Amino acid sequence: MNTTKQITIILILLLSVIGTCFGYSMAESSRQKKEAEHLTERNAERGARIYVNNCRSCHGHQGFGSEEGAIGAKINSSAFLILEEDNEYGAEATSKFGSGGTPGYQDIRNFVRNTLRCGRAGTYMPAWSEEYGGTLSDTQIDQVVTLITTGRWDLVAQEIIEHDEENNTNPDEVILKDPSGMAIISENCGQYNAVQALKYRTRSDPRLNVVDGNENKNEENEVVTSVEMGPMVKGLPVEQFYAAACAVCHGVDRKGVEAIGSLPLLPSYLTKEDNFYFETLVNGRAGTVMPSWRAQGLSDDEMWNLVNFIKYTQP
Ligand code: HEC
Ligand code: HEC
Repeated sequence: MNTTKQITIILILLLSVIGTCFGYSMAESSRQKKEAEHLTERNAERGARIYVNNCRSCHGHQGFGSEEGAIGAKINSSAFLILEEDNEYGAEATSKFGSGGTPGYQDIRNFVRNTLRCGRAGTYMPAWSEEYGGTLSDTQIDQVVTLITTGRWDLVAQEIIEHDEENNTNPDEVILKDPSGMAIISENCGQYNAVQALKYRTRSDPRLNVVDGNENKNEENEVVTSVEMGPMVKGLPVEQFYAAACAVCHGVDRKGVEAIGSLPLLPSYLTKEDNFYFETLVNGRAGTVMPSWRAQGLSDDEMWNLVNFIKYTQP
């Protein structure tokens, strides 16, 4: 055997070893990915079971809350989705979605987890953490967080069928319709009020890959200060602020939500003088969940914009 032949054989051997290693590591990483997906799915399934047993009565069969005539907020929302690649690429994905004041995936996870653990002061949302007298462990809370941030409401639908058959439950009777006798939650740990919750609830759908839905960009990709769009509240046009902060309790259609005991906010119902409604916004209504919007951080001008909106515009 001459040297050239020997070298060729060694090269072939070397290449095949490298090839095998490469193939193995590819298979290994796809195996790990499958395993991670499987784990996420299993957690979401457990989250769905917890949801059906603990949350459905207030947040509805599909998590649409007051849009289903229930007491709770809409939590089946693209604003709360965390993409698979966020988990995969971590910090890089945060820089994609977490810039310019738009909450990144960790912010969203903290928002949902904190709200679950601590409840929401001044509303009917109870604290779920065992630490604050609730019934769920941190592991269980994380499973529900996974359900909400992966948007697996199909698993909830499945779980409802099984649960209701097993327990002979009539799904129409599950949703709570009467807040009297229900406790209004007091402050404990990390709390968000409606104004602080705004940027999470209005975060653009991460699947659309838009960094910030409220920003206009020119051709050089620079942010252009938005043109005056009429009355604003906390940087949003008044109707968008209503949708994010008031619709939870008064309905998207402004007809009021019976289960919450709120009232319609339509010109035909608001027959008292403007100042009466302004004072309602400033002080809230003691003994009900209608909060003081001064305490939530709105200026007088912003509250007047809201009064004019509910009293003089049709939806
Ligand atoms: C007794 C009724 C009730 C129950 C039970 C309940 N919630 Fe809530 N939840 C509410 C209300 C009311 C709000 C809206 C609070 C507000 O106006 O800010 C809310 C808000 C939330 C929010 C924040 C949404 C946002 O946009 O601010 C999340 C997340 C949430 N609930 C998840 C859950 C989960 C998960 C469960 C079950 C473990 C649950 N809730 C059980 C009444 C309830
Ligand atoms: C957490 C639930 C909740 C939220 C959020 C909420 N409201 Fe209310 N609101 C109520 C309830 C309940 C009442 C009824 C109080 C009562 O029985 O007097 C009410 C009453 C009112 C009234 C008095 C209506 C009348 O005819 O007397 C006005 C005005 C009003 N809300 C405006 C708003 C606006 C504007 C927002 C958003 C900035 C808002 N509310 C957000 C629960 C809420």
